[in-house]
Amino acid sequence: MSDYKGPERVLSGIQPSGGMHLGNYLGAIRKFVELQDRHDCFYCVVDMHAITVWQDPAKLREQTFHIAASFLAAGVDPKKAAIFHQSGVRAHAELAWIFNCVARLGWLDRMTQFKDKVGKDKERASVGLYTYPVLQAADILVYKATHVPVGEDQKQHLELSRDIAGKFNHDFDAPGFFPLPEPLIKGPGARVMSLRDGTAKMSKSDPSANACVYLSDDRDTIARKIKKAKTDPDALPSEVAGLEGRAEAANLVGIYGALSGKSDADVLAEFGGQGFGVFKPALAEMVAEKIGPIGDELRRLEADPDYVRGILCEGAQTASVVADKVVDEVKQAVGFVA
Ligand code: TYM
Repeated sequence: MSDYKGPERVLSGIQPSGGMHLGNYLGAIRKFVELQDRHDCFYCVVDMHAITVWQDPAKLREQTFHIAASFLAAGVDPKKAAIFHQSGVRAHAELAWIFNCVARLGWLDRMTQFKDKVGKDKERASVGLYTYPVLQAADILVYKATHVPVGEDQKQHLELSRDIAGKFNHDFDAPGFFPLPEPLIKGPGARVMSLRDGTAKMSKSDPSANACVYLSDDRDTIARKIKKAKTDPDALPSEVAGLEGRAEAANLVGIYGALSGKSDADVLAEFGGQGFGVFKPALAEMVAEKIGPIGDELRRLEADPDYVRGILCEGAQTASVVADKVVDEVKQAVGFVA
């Protein structure tokens, strides 16, 4: 428990390491839009996280614009929320160093995403990839953010952020200095799976372009990808229990439900007993209806990188005002000379 009594704030981040897909939209960005009316929100394109693995510099810049443009196209309003690039706010890196000295090696050794990413080739991984979750904790706590909208895959990183906040508060005898940030994960779309393999997460790094629906896909591409999605030969069940052991069917039903605002049970009440020959065209239409207009706006914004750059730089200034103040307080607590 933290005795934190400060204002509620929301922060989240997305890596500019590939195209923005349906999983990012349902797991994260859609929540960003919902939260901006009720909270102070900070939405960050985490370019410093992206370089923990090699990124072509020109491509990194382009992808950073792409992610920022996706925020805007999906409805994040720069008048309500700060939209910025992580490297544009120096305080993230400054706090990350201090947190590197708070976090324990044992905590990082337990991070499953690191283990999954490096496999057997740990020796060749960057040091940054290992301390990645520490920088993530700094992203959140440099704003004293209390709520973090993310997909399910970020759960362990959020737990680490809470551990770091708690240990800092304890070590520097400052109860309530940092909040223990709450992950906002629940809800449909928290874990969208690949269209080619219902047991693997939909991911920017999937080598198959057909595994993801990207926000930039036009309506024909969306329809083609849904048509090609892996399924099984059986009809859809009438009850949710019938999805057990049918990962691909469960994923497609989940996507339809998340986009239409219906529960899985309601989707099955409508489509139970029907084959994929009926369900897939309905799903393709639903995805095209919800994602198609975002893609149109995304293409319009991407044609105007100067506008997007302006939003990022303005957002970075707004964010820096909050973050610099927190870092000043941290330095004071740690004992650095002001
Ligand atoms: P990243 O860039 O991999 O993903 C961005 C957001 O999208 C969510 N997401 C998904 N949600 C549902 N189904 C999926 N298949 C799916 N794939 C991705 C992620 O959960 C995430 O919310 N480490 C973070 C970036 C980060 C961050 C932060 C997040 C850096 N600093 C501070 C929150 C707060 C990441 O790699 O996300």
